Amino acid sequence: MNRRKFINLFSISLLVNYLPMSLAISSAKSRSKYENKNQVFSSKDWIVAGTVKEINESGQIFRDKSAYGTVLVIRDTQSEKLVAINSTCTHLGCNVDWEAKENIFLCPCHASEFNYNGEVKNGPATEPLGIYETKIESGNIMVRPVKI
Ligand code: FES
Repeated sequence: MNRRKFINLFSISLLVNYLPMSLAISSAKSRSKYENKNQVFSSKDWIVAGTVKEINESGQIFRDKSAYGTVLVIRDTQSEKLVAINSTCTHLGCNVDWEAKENIFLCPCHASEFNYNGEVKNGPATEPLGIYETKIESGNIMVRPVKI
């Protein structure tokens, strides 16, 4: 057997032995990504958005990758009630900010304004923000979608 023939046989042998293993590992990684990304939550599932300590310290909590999408929790200064919204603007998807002085959620991209119920006050957005129900449990702020 000459050197070239040996290298060809060796290469084929490697391919035959390790290709199935590589495919299996790759498939497992893809599957786990898929399962995480598309994990199905019931709208009755409460998830932890943050802690009471966090909101007491900063006045708001923002989560950009919750199971339900973005979550912005603020404490309404007038009623002291917790308000939680999906902060993804319904116009083109920027994240809205809470403007406490004006009592609105303001989109920094094209200036859409939403009230604390997520309803549009000024466009260009035409659809309301998703909103979450909130509760406090063991020092955690829990949320679940009312509508997203
Ligand atoms: Fe929010 Fe355009 S993305 S107003």
